[in-house]
Amino acid sequence: MTADAPLTQTDIAAIAARLDRPIVLVGLMGAGKSTVGRRLANMIGRRFIDADDAIEVAARRSIPEIFDEFGEAYFRNGERRVIARLIEEERGVIATGGGAFVDPQTRALILERALAVWIDCDIDTLVERTARRNTRPLLRGGDPKAILTGLLERRKPFYEQAQLRVRGENNPHTDTALAIIKAIDQWL
Ligand code: S3P
Repeated sequence: MTADAPLTQTDIAAIAARLDRPIVLVGLMGAGKSTVGRRLANMIGRRFIDADDAIEVAARRSIPEIFDEFGEAYFRNGERRVIARLIEEERGVIATGGGAFVDPQTRALILERALAVWIDCDIDTLVERTARRNTRPLLRGGDPKAILTGLLERRKPFYEQAQLRVRGENNPHTDTALAIIKAIDQWL
C-alpha cells in the first residue's frame, strides 16, 4: 500500500486487527477529538468513549457545573481517575479533554498503555469551532483566540509527546479519521 493509496474496508480491518491497545485522541478544544473519534471508532469497528462525558456521569454534573462548584483542580483529579479507569477497561477510541494529556500521570499512562494521537489544528479553526458552543469554562474569561494561543504555547511540548500527530483542519472529519488510520498503519 503506498502512502496516498485509498484505504479499502479490508485494509482498515487489517490495520485495526493489529492494534492491541486503545487509541487516545489528544489536542486543544475544538480540534475535533470527539467527532473524529466517533468516525474513527465506526470505521474500525470499536467503541467510542468521550472522557469528558464519562467525567460528567461520574460527577453527576456538567463540566461547567464542576468548574463552578468545585474548581479546576477538582475537575483535574476526576479527569485523572476517569481516564485511568477507561484505559484499564477499554480497547476502543477515547477522546480526552484538552488538558488531560498535560497531567504527568495521565500522560505517562496513555503513552505506556495506549496509542496517543495529537490532532493538531490551526488557531483560527479552533476559535471558529469553539465559538459554536458556550460549554468550555476556560474560554469564558477573555478573548478565545488569545486564550487558545496561550494554551497551545504551554501545552505543545506535551502534545508533541504523542506517538502520532495528524492535522485537524480537514473537513469532513472523516478525512482526519482516515489520516489517523494511515498513521497507525505506519506506526505498527
Ligand atoms: C479543557 C477542555 C475541555 C474540557 C474542559 C477543560 C481544557 O474538553 O475537558 O473544559 O483544559 O482544554 P474539550 O477539549 O473536549 O473541549
